[in-house]
Amino acid sequence: MTTRSTVSEGKWLRSLDQCSLLHPFSALHTQVDSDVKVMESANGIWLTDDGGRKFIDAGSGLWCTNVGYGRKAIVAAAAAQMEKTSFLHSFSNFTHGPIALLTERLLALAPQGFKRILYGVSGSDANDTQIKLVRRYNNIRGKTAKKKVIARNSSYHGSTIGAGSLSGLPMVHRTFDLPMEGVLHTLAADYHRRPGHIVTEEEFSRYLADELDKLIEAEGSDTVAAFIAEPVVGGGGLLIPPAGYFREINNVLEKHDVLMIADEVVTAFGRTGHWFASPSFEAKPDLITVAKGLTSGYFPMSACLISQKVSDVLYAEEAMDGFFGHGFTSTGHPVGAAVALANIHILESENLLHNATVVGQYLLKRIRDKLSGHKFVGDIRGAGLMIGIEFDLDTGLRRQFDNPNYIACLLSKACFDQGLIVRGAYGRVLAAIAPPLILTIAEADEIVRRLERAVECFSATLTTTLAAE
Ligand SMILES: Cc1ncc(COP(=O)(O)O)c(C=O)c1O
Repeated sequence: MTTRSTVSEGKWLRSLDQCSLLHPFSALHTQVDSDVKVMESANGIWLTDDGGRKFIDAGSGLWCTNVGYGRKAIVAAAAAQMEKTSFLHSFSNFTHGPIALLTERLLALAPQGFKRILYGVSGSDANDTQIKLVRRYNNIRGKTAKKKVIARNSSYHGSTIGAGSLSGLPMVHRTFDLPMEGVLHTLAADYHRRPGHIVTEEEFSRYLADELDKLIEAEGSDTVAAFIAEPVVGGGGLLIPPAGYFREINNVLEKHDVLMIADEVVTAFGRTGHWFASPSFEAKPDLITVAKGLTSGYFPMSACLISQKVSDVLYAEEAMDGFFGHGFTSTGHPVGAAVALANIHILESENLLHNATVVGQYLLKRIRDKLSGHKFVGDIRGAGLMIGIEFDLDTGLRRQFDNPNYIACLLSKACFDQGLIVRGAYGRVLAAIAPPLILTIAEADEIVRRLERAVECFSATLTTTLAAE
């Protein structure tokens, strides 16, 4: 048996990992054989493994390290708050400075018309909370049958029972008996995979809104409570909405008295060059979910932003004194709030929203210059520092690979071998590039260099693999 004293630190950690850790979003049966990666330190956009090898983290961890790794001001804010009050809750009308200040700050940054904030710990629990807020909203209004929530295919909203149901990815549902009752899915705003008869983005937007309208009509508007969408889809495929999409969707939602929840867990806090992405895509949410970039991953924290319209109803409930029986131990954690305030200060003082726009445009252009027209590159799309390169078997016909998850592993390995970590998307062959917003032009160039080499190696492997089939 392997013992601590007979092997190197790295080997010991790998053996501990392999026999005892259940990895989220990983293929369990390959765990023992796989090359477990041990990351040891991080700074800026860089990760270093236990062998001293450096990688560009072009996925910002899990789309979350907006201000980059190793920010001393955030560490100091967390330590100072921990010394002062390591824990405080916000149940039963208790409050504290950091959470009150953060709430004021977030409401000032939010799109117009937002009134209150309820905190959580993860994007998933916040989206579950949104489902409960929507239910309560309609119960108070006496519309007790109006409870269904419509999400979209190829979306990701989390993996708890509620949020996992909302997610439009079969791998989140499979073997977990999801989606739960009352959650429906409509078409993704996936312009690259639009039906063959549709040409323009505007046409596609109208088509998608019509499909949503038909679904609500078929279910009955008196049973449909909310529609949830990411302004730009992240983990489900990096999908930029086609022109006019949210304008068309708004009309349908208004017609049927259906609330809109914007899941801005990835898009808020500068990822697309704005504090919130909704207004720039003409989305008009009644509820907004944020997490990830709220603390740049330095502390687990999420929030549900509640519009005046919804808040007015919630606060009108008189039964049981309007008692709100929901919340978590760490709702409004003081250390999380102090971290979020320090993080927002960095985003603002270093002008990182502007940087995401400028360097994002530069990076998108450079990637297009280098990879457009490549044999397997079907589409290159982006908004701010959210860029997706989608690979197809036949780019002319926009035909997908028959076994996309296997091919996607070849792609991410090719990138990893070049010291570039990218995000993927289940069911697609996609390299999603969403680096920290501190990215410089020189670092953007380095991403392009590594990506180009990775795509060359990937194409060579792919050509051999396809020839052998
Ligand atoms: C858009 C979106 N919503 C919700 C979630 C779930 O967040 P968490 O993993 O913190 O539960 C994610 C996570 O990737 C996400 O991308």
